[in-house]
Amino acid sequence: MTFHVIDLIRTKRDGGRLPDEAVDWLINSYTAGAVADEQMASYLMAVLWRGMQPAELSRWTAAMVASGERLDLSGLGRPTVDKHSTGGVGDKVSLVLVPLVAACGAAVPQLAGRGLGHTGGTLDKMEAIPGWQASLSSERMRSVLTDVGGVIAAAGAGLAPADRKLYALRDVTGTVESIPLIASSIMSKKIAEGTSALVLDVKVGSGAFMTAQAQARALAETMVTLGDAAGVRTEALLTGMDAPLGRTAGNALEVVEAVETLRGGGPADLVEVTVALARRMLVLAGLEGGPDPADVLAAGKAYDVWRRMVTAQGGDPDAALPVAGHVETVPAPVTGFLCSLDARAVGVAAWRLGAGRSRKDDVVSASAGVRWFASPGERVVAGTPLLQLHTDDPARMASAMEALTDAVEIADTPPAVQPLVRGRVHL
Ligand code: URA
Repeated sequence: MTFHVIDLIRTKRDGGRLPDEAVDWLINSYTAGAVADEQMASYLMAVLWRGMQPAELSRWTAAMVASGERLDLSGLGRPTVDKHSTGGVGDKVSLVLVPLVAACGAAVPQLAGRGLGHTGGTLDKMEAIPGWQASLSSERMRSVLTDVGGVIAAAGAGLAPADRKLYALRDVTGTVESIPLIASSIMSKKIAEGTSALVLDVKVGSGAFMTAQAQARALAETMVTLGDAAGVRTEALLTGMDAPLGRTAGNALEVVEAVETLRGGGPADLVEVTVALARRMLVLAGLEGGPDPADVLAAGKAYDVWRRMVTAQGGDPDAALPVAGHVETVPAPVTGFLCSLDARAVGVAAWRLGAGRSRKDDVVSASAGVRWFASPGERVVAGTPLLQLHTDDPARMASAMEALTDAVEIADTPPAVQPLVRGRVHL
């Protein structure tokens, strides 16, 4: 059936709902280049204002999945389950979680992305490991999943190509911040990846896409509904992102911290979020009743899986990681309790030091980033190190320092620290 794109734009502009066939036609025609960018941009802006009805959004997402290949991960001998984070600062959870859940008996097929803006990307972190390759063929992915149980790799060009085009267009037309468009973008890729179950880590707070709990919950509910409609058992945890996670933001710095955690140490907040997600993943994979992931992690049992995962993709798990040529330490200005450390400010500083990119084709620095020596609630002493900035390009130091100007609050009394896991969303 053929439609006229202008009619579809008008329908959405006036608050109407597209019939299923029109949704399919629009996604297919845009992916094939028959609908122009300016027409789709106009349609997306109408969606941003008018939203989409649940069944319409489900069809839109299915059409995005159908625009490319859907991986078949059946017959691996282990149940598949993945995690997706909506993005935060210092969020190195995947590096710990994928080998942890694999060590507990599941297959974790994580197709990850690169960072854009102030939030880091899992692939950028993994690429700090000398030799590690993000690209894997589908056959190789299946064989690593069978042998090792966990894979972190780049999503190939054949996976949800409609999203690739739509995301690039949204990025330059002010249409990123729409719950149906974010939900369909994330879920189309996760559904196409072929996982049977999925736990979403929806971040909420200053360093997250969603700064308010109600917005984060709405996004989580939308994604859980889309996952279930596509036959992927899906649930979401809402987790705090007012302060950055762990003690480091920046690619190699975060790998070092992830490895410490995999060896049974690591910062308490990173362990807490990772274990909470792992427990839900194991339930969705039908593997509850085995050892508790907290014990598996503390015993260092996921570290062996990590080493095998890194080696399977050409990386050397024993190689020294890149270290920045220039490091500046900022002392605590007064003695007291750290009340807040603003996640967004830390993310922007790490980005300005070279850890992130402004444009998709920017090259990121493996060694750049920020380290902090206390988390909110902890006592700090005047004159002792509080923040540390790492970069290879000293010209970047001043603007990174500037981003951190108001990032820290210290008071005489300890703050009320909110729980990290703020809620669970499931059908
Ligand atoms: N991540 C995605 O993959 N898509 C969005 O729209 C936002 C974040």
